[in-house]
Amino acid sequence: MSDTSLKNQQVVVIGGTSGIGREVANAALQRGAIVTVIGRSAKAGGDIRAIAADVTDNAALVQAFAAIGRIDHLVLTAGARVGSPKLTELQREELELAFNVKLFGSLFAIQAALPYLTPNASVTLTSGLLSRKFGPGGLLKSTLNAAVEATAKTLAKELAPRRVNVVSPGVIDTELWGEAGAESRVAAMARIGKGLPVGRVGTPQDVAQAYMLAMENGFVSGAVLDIEGGGLL
Ligand SMILES: NC(=O)c1ccc[n+]([C@@H]2O[C@H](COP(=O)([O-])OP(=O)(O)OC[C@H]3O[C@@H](n4cnc5c(N)ncnc54)[C@H](OP(=O)(O)O)[C@@H]3O)[C@@H](O)[C@H]2O)c1
Repeated sequence: MSDTSLKNQQVVVIGGTSGIGREVANAALQRGAIVTVIGRSAKAGGDIRAIAADVTDNAALVQAFAAIGRIDHLVLTAGARVGSPKLTELQREELELAFNVKLFGSLFAIQAALPYLTPNASVTLTSGLLSRKFGPGGLLKSTLNAAVEATAKTLAKELAPRRVNVVSPGVIDTELWGEAGAESRVAAMARIGKGLPVGRVGTPQDVAQAYMLAMENGFVSGAVLDIEGGGLL
């Protein structure tokens, strides 16, 4: 059988302390998985184990995976909260931070996890709709997310028979957009939602389902799962 239940499977979510990653952790727990989240601010709580580690720190990643042991499913959602600078506003520090956390952080996290990934393991990265939607101010996020998608497809072959996929969210209402209830966040979500074919922005629950599919369906590899309410059209 190629499909796997998550019951008693070891699921690790890097970036599981907030937003999309936190919802992926909750959804996996509900399906009976043993879940560990990793983030800089990780605090243990409830049935989800938490380990504090910065993805830009290779030694911390190696230590975290040694403490976890066997991994059936690795999910990467960590990303720095950065702006949308045009070329004239681009700062080297901001670009480096974004790439260090999301692209290099994911690569070195997967490298550190490799000794613990089971032969049937899945790895799911996170890109974003701007990987294939271009416009002024999209330079940082378009190049970064396109690189994440290329990484996932490359690793789907290099790490086979382990499966590697990427979830590409559109606009999802998370802390990335500001504090819950903040006026600017509510206004931005309403404005962006109106412009989408589905008439609203996404929730973390909408997008968490795609990570569940990537983990559970043994015939999905090298795929980009677009969860964006029609935003790419
Ligand atoms: N929300 C959207 O509209 C949207 C759209 C497209 C793509 N995405 C992508 O989806 C992913 C998740 O976004 P989100 O909305 O859930 O954002 P979020 O709420 O800001 O979550 C980001 C997560 O990354 C972790 N993180 C950041 N820097 C880290 C570091 N140096 N080391 C370890 N962990 C780190 C944070 O944990 P700590 O603070 O505990 O370290 C947090 O758990 C990101 O890659 C983002 O680019 C989101």
